[in-house]
Amino acid sequence: MASTGLDATAVEANEEAIRAWDGPLFDRFLQFKHLMTDGLGVHGDAALELLAPQHGERALDIGCGFGDTTEQLAALIGPESEALGVDAAPRFIEHARAAAAEHGVANARFMVADVQTMEPRESYEIAFSRFGTMFFANPVAAMRNVRRALSPGGRLVMTVWRNRADNDWIYRAQTIVEGIVDRPTEYDEPTCGPGPFSMADADTTSAIMLAAGFHDVALHRCDLPILIGRDLQEAIALVTALGPAGEILRLAGDRAAHLHAKVQAELERGMSDLLGPDGVRAGASTWLVSARVP
Ligand SMILES: C[S@@+](CC[C@H](N)C(=O)[O-])C[C@H]1O[C@@H](n2cnc3c(N)ncnc32)[C@H](O)[C@@H]1O
Repeated sequence: MASTGLDATAVEANEEAIRAWDGPLFDRFLQFKHLMTDGLGVHGDAALELLAPQHGERALDIGCGFGDTTEQLAALIGPESEALGVDAAPRFIEHARAAAAEHGVANARFMVADVQTMEPRESYEIAFSRFGTMFFANPVAAMRNVRRALSPGGRLVMTVWRNRADNDWIYRAQTIVEGIVDRPTEYDEPTCGPGPFSMADADTTSAIMLAAGFHDVALHRCDLPILIGRDLQEAIALVTALGPAGEILRLAGDRAAHLHAKVQAELERGMSDLLGPDGVRAGASTWLVSARVP
């Protein structure tokens, strides 16, 4: 374990997070894949635009999930070069490989790797992540590994969530659910580590990046509403399956079963104004974090 550079607590927390991503979270992301990739995709597209991949650059996609952004990177850098998607959860990688093969994308490769403990052997000019860097027990160790994977002058852009209050799409459901269900203090389910808002604080995130050895760290605020459901029921299903509201319900399990009808009714009442002609859209706010290797 010492070779990973992580202490025992971080190793344990990280192993639990990976179990969560390869287990219940994978199942839930798969159920809502169309919203994850298309709905949240607008923030990923803004990050890709900022990164501006050039033809021939080698690209690393961190926490690549289903690999759709790895495929986008592969298209932007062209067939002569290669995009590598890494993810700690084998089921995501299996899915990403199958999707790239189905789409005929030959220059996207995928690898199971825990970014926190990986020993980078190759060298990339660009690193990218859409919501794949917020779940590390030791983010400095993880981002240091990303920095080591980049060649001198290498660039990174990653999308991370800004504060909850500016993310109506997830915060509204959280406040409604918290008003009805107590977050359990004891549970058997694995959790996904520090959670989606771990990089919301600009000072903390820039300190992590600087400690990891990056230069020219800049955080660009990106406010773009996102589609969270084609109808109200799908949006409610999404926010009760994923994110902070979903986590409270997942951890409470059957103990909260008697409250589910009340949760559903309150969510219908509290989210109905988000429904428009093309589905349910809500405010979403991210940081596009850019940085460079000297
Ligand atoms: C919120 S999902 C984002 C997935 C994808 N980038 C997207 O935008 O659809 C977070 C991803 O990070 C991965 N992940 C979490 N911890 C990781 C780690 N230590 N190393 C590599 N990947 C990790 C998860 O397995 C999951 O696929």
